[in-house]
Amino acid sequence: MRRIAVCPGSFDPITLGHIDIIKRASKLFDKVIVLISANAAKTTSFSYTERLDFIERATPDLDNVVIDILDGLLAEYVKDVGAIAIVKGLRAVSDFEYEFQMALANKKLYEGAETVFLTTSAENMYLSSSVVKQIASFGGDISHFVPSCVLEDIKTRLVKEIKNEY
Ligand code: PNS
Repeated sequence: MRRIAVCPGSFDPITLGHIDIIKRASKLFDKVIVLISANAAKTTSFSYTERLDFIERATPDLDNVVIDILDGLLAEYVKDVGAIAIVKGLRAVSDFEYEFQMALANKKLYEGAETVFLTTSAENMYLSSSVVKQIASFGGDISHFVPSCVLEDIKTRLVKEIKNEY
């Protein structure tokens, strides 16, 4: 039996913290689907296609990782693809309540999969897409936070976004 895991998130944009979790998940499961999903509580800066392109370019060496886009319920997707796990990264206690709530809701919607939390590596504890966006939009250096192959594209887009606001 192929053990499939889904690694969902906004990935707006992908960070080195996400890459770390995806890489570690790819060692634990036969196949990992990185699922770019809508978070009703967030407005995004990058389109689904841009986010997919960034993740694709940042994970060329991960043979058992595929990327997909979801505009619906995660639990239904997980059931449809026959995944046994939802993998999420957990940075700090502050993440826990929200992630715990989602894990319980997803379990209620579909009992067939477990949510598995991977603790973020120490160097990525503070890292999030919103931190990256804040720094980049004011011209700061984000080279330590995002994959180098997509760095310039992320910077260009975010600087353009902030210029359009003025
Ligand atoms: O990276 P994020 O924004 O913390 O990821 C949250 C995400 C996208 C995984 C979550 O909002 C989600 O699962 N969205 C898909 C729609 C859904 O199923 N929502 C109910 C989750 S309990």
